[in-house]
Amino acid sequence: MKKKILIISGGISKERKISLDTGKQVKKELIKNNYIVKIVEPDFKLTNKIKLFKPNIIFNALHGQFGEDGYIQTILESIGIPYTHSGIISSAIAMDKEISKKLFIKNNIITPKFFTYMFDKSNKDLVKLIDKKLKFPVVIKPINEGSSVNVFICSRKNITKNLKFLENYKKIIIEEFIPGREIQAAIINDKKLGAIELKPRRKFYDYVAKYSSKAKTKHIIPVDLKKNEYNKLMDLAIKAHKLIGCRGVTRSDFKYYKGKFFLLEINTQPGMTSLSLVPEIAAYQGINFMKLLELILNDASTKK
Ligand SMILES: Nc1ncnc2c1ncn2[C@@H]1O[C@H](COP(=O)(O)OP(=O)(O)O)[C@@H](O)[C@H]1O
Ligand SMILES: [Mg+2]
Repeated sequence: MKKKILIISGGISKERKISLDTGKQVKKELIKNNYIVKIVEPDFKLTNKIKLFKPNIIFNALHGQFGEDGYIQTILESIGIPYTHSGIISSAIAMDKEISKKLFIKNNIITPKFFTYMFDKSNKDLVKLIDKKLKFPVVIKPINEGSSVNVFICSRKNITKNLKFLENYKKIIIEEFIPGREIQAAIINDKKLGAIELKPRRKFYDYVAKYSSKAKTKHIIPVDLKKNEYNKLMDLAIKAHKLIGCRGVTRSDFKYYKGKFFLLEINTQPGMTSLSLVPEIAAYQGINFMKLLELILNDASTKK
């Protein structure tokens, strides 16, 4: 019998557009391979839509807030139909850069030095705090956003201007800036999938460098690393994935500088658009898009 897959995409996060793209790509591929597919938005009618369609598996194609942070997973868990990617707790931890970085540090995974700042509570002079705890340049970013949305590399000169973009977040992260190479590593179903290096032509791997083909970010695969360095990278990616208890596919973002891998974050809902990195990493390993989707679907569950 043909399998029914319900894809949830869109949503309310700043990555809505990327999620719609991910949803479309996944739908196209599944239909080509004889699945019965329906795409829905995660709105207040979601539960009804799921009950009407009665899917065998739910494919979570959401990114960012409400889709990648444990919220939607709670609803899906309560419905009891297997859904793809990480479960409630893992999603929540991975999405929270403060909590996940603390876990990385506790488990000897190097991550850039950081502190958090609350606009309403910390109300101390942030520049003074930076001088005390880190040094310029620094990176400021939201705790729970993705796709480089509202990530800024700041000098002493431009930090006040950039901070204005983050004022609506309750809490932000101030991190030491790590120069060097941008390398990302993917894990699937608790196994090492592979890695890719990105060479943006912009100041850093920002939203435009990630999603616009016009930005001409160079994708380098295989990554140019010695075997032992590559193994170190993949060991770190699988350690982070297992540490947080992730399911299905994850992509860990690293900076590589002076022989050290700095883990910036682990993504539990990596993109699946035509410019996305996980499908590219998989393809290099001989896993085409459909095989990748099947691996993800096979690991769908309601168990964690
Ligand atoms: N501490 C840092 N040092 C250097 N570059 C950084 C740092 N933090 C973030 N960046 C740059 O910003 C990009 C997005 O940051 P990341 O922490 O991965 O957040 P997001 O969840 O938005 O992807 C990174 O891929 C990198 O290019
Ligand atoms: Mg990232």
